[in-house]
Amino acid sequence: MTTQPWGSQRQRTAIGRLGLSVPARQAVTDLQLASGTSVLDYGCGRGADVRSLRGLGLDVSGWDPAHQPAGELKAAEVVLLTYVLNVIEDPAERRQTLQNAWAHTRTALAVAVRLRWERNQIKGREYGDGILTSRNTFQHLFAAGELRDYVEEVTGAHCVSSAPGIVYAFRSDEARLSYLARHITPDEEWLASEDTASAVAAVVDHLERRGRLPRLEEMPLQVTAVLGNLRPAELNRLAQQASDRTKVEEAAKRSALDTLVFLAVELFHGRGPASSLPLPVQLDIRAFFSSYAEACKRADRLLMKLRDDAYVRRAMTGSAAGKFTATALYIHRRGLHRISAVLRLYEHCASIAAGRPPEWTVVKLRHQGRGVSWLDYPDFDTDPHPRLASSYSVDLTTLKSTFLSYANSTNRPLLHRKHEFLAPEDPDVPKYLRLTEAEVRAGLYEHPHLIGTEEGWEKELSRCGRALRGHRLVHRR
Ligand SMILES: C[S@@+](CC[C@H](N)C(=O)[O-])C[C@H]1O[C@@H](n2cnc3c(N)ncnc32)[C@H](O)[C@@H]1O
Repeated sequence: MTTQPWGSQRQRTAIGRLGLSVPARQAVTDLQLASGTSVLDYGCGRGADVRSLRGLGLDVSGWDPAHQPAGELKAAEVVLLTYVLNVIEDPAERRQTLQNAWAHTRTALAVAVRLRWERNQIKGREYGDGILTSRNTFQHLFAAGELRDYVEEVTGAHCVSSAPGIVYAFRSDEARLSYLARHITPDEEWLASEDTASAVAAVVDHLERRGRLPRLEEMPLQVTAVLGNLRPAELNRLAQQASDRTKVEEAAKRSALDTLVFLAVELFHGRGPASSLPLPVQLDIRAFFSSYAEACKRADRLLMKLRDDAYVRRAMTGSAAGKFTATALYIHRRGLHRISAVLRLYEHCASIAAGRPPEWTVVKLRHQGRGVSWLDYPDFDTDPHPRLASSYSVDLTTLKSTFLSYANSTNRPLLHRKHEFLAPEDPDVPKYLRLTEAEVRAGLYEHPHLIGTEEGWEKELSRCGRALRGHRLVHRR
């Protein structure tokens, strides 16, 4: 290997890996990387992501000054810059590296870094704006909010946080808006169709889920191929006749609210003309609002409501899903689609600013002040009292984020009354409710201040002579 002109042993930071790294996997799903998309892994280290992405059919090149100096360094649709900025000790060179990666980006640059909460995993002494480790490698750890601001400032592009420590910078507004639209409006899955009848059924399904008929450009090729012979007016008549009016009206209300959330989020970056929006959003605006100006006005009002404590509190107490407490509303991710537009906007704002973690089960929206926490209970479905594995919180007034891991804790916080976190129609609610009622009858909730953590809960179970078998409460032998 050639000697590098660096003070630290940067090349040592590259680890061997079998599968895709977390940021590369996230980019594949978030940016919907289709087979053939060109990708450049800038600072690819030992090249594990290059190999795995090639395995997915992507057109990948990788370059690294230490490990792949002869790698192909060419512009690509998507550029990955994963865990590179951390290892550069000179702030000017760090900045230049980000600029170089950006210069090779045609559509989106995915920047991933290690964050400050990993500090205790790194042994070493403070050096410059980071840590010099015992192996003579350097790590500058970013604050979650700092990363987005930094990438925005250096690239001059609007950025979106995808997850803690992962930020996307988009070359065009079009690419960023399509990303946002995919994340805010629900997935558009199409039913399979082989003949005219099944293709019409797929259109009816779209109508009942979106609240409006799809345009030809929105349909998958297999559907257009079958329906190509039908006149649009004829197709509309058939679909309207076959659809359930109530479902269509409900879906129209939902889609209108999704559009408002999208336009409200978009205000952060300054709104462009309607023609800059993704086609499905333009069509939603046409179908559910009298004009783009009216939709924007309503979206602005929604954003204003987010500042109104009394309004937010009312939205929480009347929420169709979730558990309301003295400080916050807690909602299971399965119930998130049932909360009101202002609360969905609340959660989206936090996720755009600091990134929503990949693993989470329950989201907590504070009504005193503005803050969002994503809580991970990996065994929520199987454990009658799920234990907290980690929490990631963002304070929306300061944009400071904190991460707490309970992996090494022997007395983890745990949940009770699981049904309250879900929407009432969730199929698991009756089972969870039966358990809660049995626990109340057994006197287990008489000292609420004792039962919030594993040890206290065990003691109460023992005091009441009870034990748990799955979601059943039994007498303790
Ligand atoms: C922690 S490794 C990450 C490697 C790879 N991206 C991954 O995620 O597995 C950091 C890499 O950054 C590379 N690197 C250091 N300085 C760089 C620079 N100025 N430009 C590009 N890459 C650099 C190092 O050679 C090292 O392979």
